[in-house]
Amino acid sequence: MNVLVIGGGGREHALCRAVARSAIPHRLYCAPGNAGIAAIARCVPLDWRDSDGVIAFCRDQDVRLVVIGPEAPLAAGLGDILRAAGVAVVGPNKEAARLESSKRFMREICVAEGIPAPRHGSFSDGEAAKSWLAEQFAVSEAAVVKADGLAAGKGVIIAADRSEASTAIDALFRQGHACVLIEERLRGREASFFFLCRGEDALPFGEARDYKRIGEDDTGANTGGMGAYSPLPDVNDAIRAAVSEGIIAPALRAMTQRGTPFTGFLYAGVMLTASGPQLLEFNVRLGDPEAQVILPRLRSDFLALLLANATAPETPAPSLALPLWDERGCLGVVMASAGYPGAYRKGDVISGAEDAAIASAGGDVCVFHAGTRRDESGRLCTDGGRVLCASALGADMAAARRRAYETVARITWRGAVHRRDIGRDIGRGVA
Ligand code: AMP
Ligand code: GLY
Repeated sequence: MNVLVIGGGGREHALCRAVARSAIPHRLYCAPGNAGIAAIARCVPLDWRDSDGVIAFCRDQDVRLVVIGPEAPLAAGLGDILRAAGVAVVGPNKEAARLESSKRFMREICVAEGIPAPRHGSFSDGEAAKSWLAEQFAVSEAAVVKADGLAAGKGVIIAADRSEASTAIDALFRQGHACVLIEERLRGREASFFFLCRGEDALPFGEARDYKRIGEDDTGANTGGMGAYSPLPDVNDAIRAAVSEGIIAPALRAMTQRGTPFTGFLYAGVMLTASGPQLLEFNVRLGDPEAQVILPRLRSDFLALLLANATAPETPAPSLALPLWDERGCLGVVMASAGYPGAYRKGDVISGAEDAAIASAGGDVCVFHAGTRRDESGRLCTDGGRVLCASALGADMAAARRRAYETVARITWRGAVHRRDIGRDIGRGVA
C-alpha cells in the first residue's frame, strides 16, 4: 500500500509521522515535503498543479492513497482529478471544498440549515455593503469584514466601529475581491473541532486551540498559527455534542442532499459563546499547527482510518471504532523566521533541532518541520516563515508546556522568533 501526502508544512510532517507509525505495510511519499519529512518519507519534487504529473507518479509508484494536506489543491479540484483517475483520496472534491473556499457559500449553508452563526450579510458592491452596515449595526458596534475567497488569513478585518468597517469594505473591493461579507463580532473563546467525514458519517477527530497572532497576548498581525494545544479543558461533552449535532451533522446532510457529499477532514472553527458554540469558519482539512498537537495523541492506526475514509462512497466503509487518544495533553510552540508574517530571510543554518529530535526518541516530543531544507553541505536551513513546531506530550498541560519550551530552548538560528505565552492562559478561563 503506497501512500502520497501532498504538502510540505508542519501539518504534513505530522500527517507523515502518523502514517509512518501504521502497522499496515506501506511506502510513504510526500510532495514536496521538507527536511524533516525526508527522514521518514521519500520526498518527491512534484507540483500538485501539474495534475498529470501527480497521476503519472501514482501509476508509476503504485500509489493507492493520496492524502491532501493544504486547502489550495482541494479548492482547485485535485481530489476530483485523482478520483477520476482511480486513486483513493483523503480530502473533499472541489464542490465540497467550497465550505472553506467560499465564505459566502458556507454562510448560505448556515442559514439554510439553521447552524448557529453570527448575523451576516454578503455583498458584491461597496455601497450596498455600507447601507446594510448602517441599517444593521449601531454606530459603536464592532463588525468583522471578510473577503469571500481563500485569502491565507489576510482577508479578515475586525473593525472596532462602523467607520473602520467602511474603510475595510473599500479596501477589500479595491484589492479586487468580488464579494465581501460583514459579520456581527462574536465574543468568547475560540476552539477548533475536527471530524473525519464520509458522506453523513463523522468520526470526532479531536479539538485544539491555536494562537493566530504573531505577538504575545494576541497582538500584531494574523499568521498561519504560532502554537496550539489539545485537548481543551474548557470544552465538555455538551459543547462537543452541540458542535457535532448542531454544526457538523447539518452541514454534512446539506452537502449530501446537494449531490456534493463531503469526505475528508472537516474542521469547524467556533466561538464558544454564552449561548453555545457558533460557527466562525469551516476548513476542509486538518489545521496547522492543530495537527501537530492532535496527531501525536492518536493511538489508533492512522493509515487504517484514512483507508476506510477514502473507500469509494458507493461501497460501504468498514465499520470503525472511534479513534483512541492518549489521555495526556499536547502543546506545540511554532518557531518562525524574523519578519514573519511579513517579509523574512531564508537560508539561515538551524542548530539544535536534530539534538532535540534525538532527545525525543521516546516519542513524547516531536519537532515538526515546516519551512526547512538541507543546503549543499547537508546542513539544516530555514526555508520559510514558519520553520518548526516543537510539540510535547505531558502528564498535564503544564508538563507538556514545560517540555515544549525546553525543546524550543535547544533550537536556534539567526533571527528565530516564537511566542512565549502559548498555553499560559490555560485554566484561567479567559482568552
Ligand atoms: P475566519 O477565517 O473567518 O475564521 O476568520 C479568522 C479569524 O477572525 C477567526 O479565527 C476569528 O479570530 C476572527 N473572526 C472571524 N469572524 C469573526 C466573528 N464573526 N466574530 C469574532 N471574530 C471573528
Ligand atoms: N490554524 C488555522 C488553520 O489551519 O487554518
